[in-house]
Amino acid sequence: MKYFRKFSASQTSCFTVLSLILAFSYPVDGDGTFQSYNSKERKRFEASSISNIRHLNEIEDDTEEVKVSTARNNFHTTKSGPYFPNWPSLDSRLLPKWYDESKIGIFIHWGVFSALGFNGAWFWECWREGHKDCVDFAKKNFKPNFTYQEIAPEFTAEFFNSSDWADLFRRSGARYVVLTTKHHEGFTLWPSKTAFGWNANDVGPHRDLVGELSRAIRNHSSLRFGVYHSLYEWYNPLYLDDKQNNFKTNQFVRFKTMPELYELVETYQPDVVWSDGDWEAPDTYWNSTEFLAWLYNDSPVKETVVTNDRWGLGTMCKHGGFNTCADRYNPGVLQPKKWENCMTLDKYAWSFRKNTNFEDYLTPEELITTIERLLQMGEWLGLHGEAIYSTVPWTFQNDTATANVWYTANPHMSRVYAIMTKWPENCERTIILGAVDGKRVSVVTMLGGYKDHLKFEDLGDKSGVRVELPAPDEIKSKWAWVIVLQMV
Ligand SMILES: *[C@@H]1O[C@H](CO)[C@@H](O)[C@H](O)[C@H]1NC(C)=O
Ligand SMILES: *[C@@H]1O[C@H](CO)[C@@H](O)[C@H](O)[C@H]1NC(C)=O
Ligand SMILES: *[C@@H]1O[C@H](CO)[C@@H](O)[C@H](O)[C@H]1NC(C)=O
Ligand SMILES: *[C@@H]1O[C@H](CO)[C@@H](O)[C@H](O)[C@H]1NC(C)=O
Ligand SMILES: *[C@@H]1O[C@H](CO)[C@@H](O)[C@H](O)[C@H]1NC(C)=O
Repeated sequence: MKYFRKFSASQTSCFTVLSLILAFSYPVDGDGTFQSYNSKERKRFEASSISNIRHLNEIEDDTEEVKVSTARNNFHTTKSGPYFPNWPSLDSRLLPKWYDESKIGIFIHWGVFSALGFNGAWFWECWREGHKDCVDFAKKNFKPNFTYQEIAPEFTAEFFNSSDWADLFRRSGARYVVLTTKHHEGFTLWPSKTAFGWNANDVGPHRDLVGELSRAIRNHSSLRFGVYHSLYEWYNPLYLDDKQNNFKTNQFVRFKTMPELYELVETYQPDVVWSDGDWEAPDTYWNSTEFLAWLYNDSPVKETVVTNDRWGLGTMCKHGGFNTCADRYNPGVLQPKKWENCMTLDKYAWSFRKNTNFEDYLTPEELITTIERLLQMGEWLGLHGEAIYSTVPWTFQNDTATANVWYTANPHMSRVYAIMTKWPENCERTIILGAVDGKRVSVVTMLGGYKDHLKFEDLGDKSGVRVELPAPDEIKSKWAWVIVLQMV
């Protein structure tokens, strides 16, 4: 007989998905000097490099996503407004300094779907739309006429300890955390007044997960707290009505989305509002510009908040804070606007998925691996963070002569960082940095606990510099190595 199987308690205590977010900010000017630059130059050289994070890929596993963002409007102050509810005005807002300097964040996907561990956050849609693997899964595991809503009581978050999470995130070296407070299923992880009976306080955990996590993060760490929020809800009858009316009516927005968003911001004061689920209707339907004008002018987070670009059909990649464009978007070339790449390492799902057995959720071994990897990242950043936090893209994003070398820079310290994701394999133990003008290099050192200066030779004629490396075991890193070029 088919039935809805009971989950073991540990299942919902796991991290559904953690993602890493890297952000790079403004570059120095074109010829690699650290002079001041005007906004035209800045525009010209705004650069991004997804590849800069290659050194981190090796310490992630397939239960995580990687997000990369680079900076548009990478100024170090927030223009104070006032802002008007139209895109030219809203888009003129400058990004807060903290975001530019943070570089690394963690994204948590958590919701009713976490209790299934099958097909990720999109299971409900997959099942309702009749996709075979989801229908088969439901046939095998659910009683006849079982509804998605009946899964919610199984989402217990029994072992969720917010201070433990906050502590782990802090130790990972991340500087901010974004939690899915409501995904497309519509279930809110906080006791929202507009999600009666379909929130984490009324059913499931019987806890305010957003409140607990946001407080713990602020209490136990200096990380910033942000919220992911889906504008649409697949099967909300108010939304389906509006959709039926070709979005000429907007009762769902008036009575659900907007009250909920204001409540979320006022109650938890997030520093990131990561909007999603916008794409079926225009931003005028969503009242996005009105909301953003309030967020930037009058909300409790008007000075600190960062937003993304998903605020209505056609806004993605165009309007709002930083660009996310399509999921897993990777332009591969320098972008004029700050952007973010969202990709899951397992390439398919936005939350943990294991299309095998129902019982087969995240094993203790896998959970430990995820935690271990976050801690390894923290360990690496503890020694090499100087090459990441508060840095900006350099004139070159990767080296011109040697593969697997990626650059960042710190103009205030007149330093360029060459991050090697592979230790060079040559008997002479040297590396050629073709992008570096040898005449301008005064001292070469390495991060990772190595104290001596490295010998280097200017190859002249714009051929770069040759740097003599120490023995690899003298550097405390297993994943990536950083050469520091002190420029004059
Ligand atoms: C499932 O729902 C259908 C239609 O409402 C009904 O005919 C059927 O008896 C239900 N099956 C069970 C097992 O409740
Ligand atoms: C969370 O874990 C800490 C130790 O890591 C413990 O002191 C605390 O009591 C736990 N909180 C809850 C609510 O279990
Ligand atoms: C925050 O820290 C204070 C003081 O250390 C403590 O009393 C309080 O319980 C903490 N709250 C949370 C949510 O961790
Ligand atoms: C929301 O948008 C609708 C349609 O564009 C508009 O009539 C209404 O005034 C807006 N509501 C708010 C609160 O701005
Ligand atoms: C640098 O990156 C570009 C594009 O990302 C690539 O085409 C080129 O081969 C890279 N150079 C080296 C030396 O790896």
